Amino acid sequence: MLNSDHQSTAPAIPGTPPAIQRIKASDKRIINGQTDVNQLVPFKYKWAWEKYLATCANHWMPQEVNMARDVALWKAPADLSGEERAMLVRNLGIFVSAASLAPDNIVLAIYRNITAPECRQFLLRQAFEEAVHTSSYQHIIESLGLDEEEIAGSYQALPSVEDKEQFLRPFMAAISDPDFRTATHENAQVLLKTLIVFGCLMQGLLGHVAYAQVIALGRQAKMAGTAEQFQFILRDESMHCNFATDLINQYKTENPLLWTPEFKQELRVLFHKAVALEIAYAEESMPTAMLDLNAAMFGGYLRQTANRRAQLIGLEALFPTEENPLPWLSAIVFFETRVIEHQSDGALSWD
Ligand SMILES: [Fe+2]
Repeated sequence: MLNSDHQSTAPAIPGTPPAIQRIKASDKRIINGQTDVNQLVPFKYKWAWEKYLATCANHWMPQEVNMARDVALWKAPADLSGEERAMLVRNLGIFVSAASLAPDNIVLAIYRNITAPECRQFLLRQAFEEAVHTSSYQHIIESLGLDEEEIAGSYQALPSVEDKEQFLRPFMAAISDPDFRTATHENAQVLLKTLIVFGCLMQGLLGHVAYAQVIALGRQAKMAGTAEQFQFILRDESMHCNFATDLINQYKTENPLLWTPEFKQELRVLFHKAVALEIAYAEESMPTAMLDLNAAMFGGYLRQTANRRAQLIGLEALFPTEENPLPWLSAIVFFETRVIEHQSDGALSWD
């Protein structure tokens, strides 16, 4: 298949290779493009290609993380509190059960509607990284010998978890319809809204309480291998969010009529809803303080993060500015594209 189905210029006879036509970079579009989606060059969206290379340079695999000390600690009854154990089991249960939502959204819904080859290249890499994250949760579950039934059950333990999923699912349902096309103003807005919900809110806000709780264990020298994997995952998610921000802004530049006052108001409501959902998770999962964290701290952190996410896509800040009680978490989440220490050596040795 040469083109995405809604803008195909390929011949109608299956199996017949289409004639390759030279494309001009200036003709490429994020959506509704008429150029061959398989022709990566000439580049127009170099930023997307560079982000693809940056994510590849950050490649990591769960099996590279040594879990021996985590296993020893998990088996030592006195060294982890019941509360800490329950927190870890619950968060693993949530992530391992909901992990397919992100890659499903990419491969079943977003990918076929994006007509810029550079962006499609990033999305392919992103889908793989989501699979790595799922295998990371499984690697931890298996290493610690956790009961799979118990893990699965913990997914439904808190109402706020279900509420978050209910919030996200309709956006995917709209654009995963095989007949969905971005040719109309209304549908182009639907896809843009979905990119914002998944790119800025799902990857950039929802789930941060759970990530922080597990990483906070590592900050107290407990379950360091597990915490390290969560930190890598959160960094990958920050890259996904960073790419989504550029994608959204380019989408807006090419389709300025979509960014209406009504549309922006709709987005503001969604940002408020996402912050409220994640605060509810903080309150339900942390009725009392633990690991130097408490639910109130997350309110401040989430409101500040939502402000930044909104401003990066051209919305005004939604909440009054307040102190960030979790600067260490922001440092992980907003590491942006700076080079991190965990980079694979791209050089091959032919000795
Ligand atoms: Fe992601």
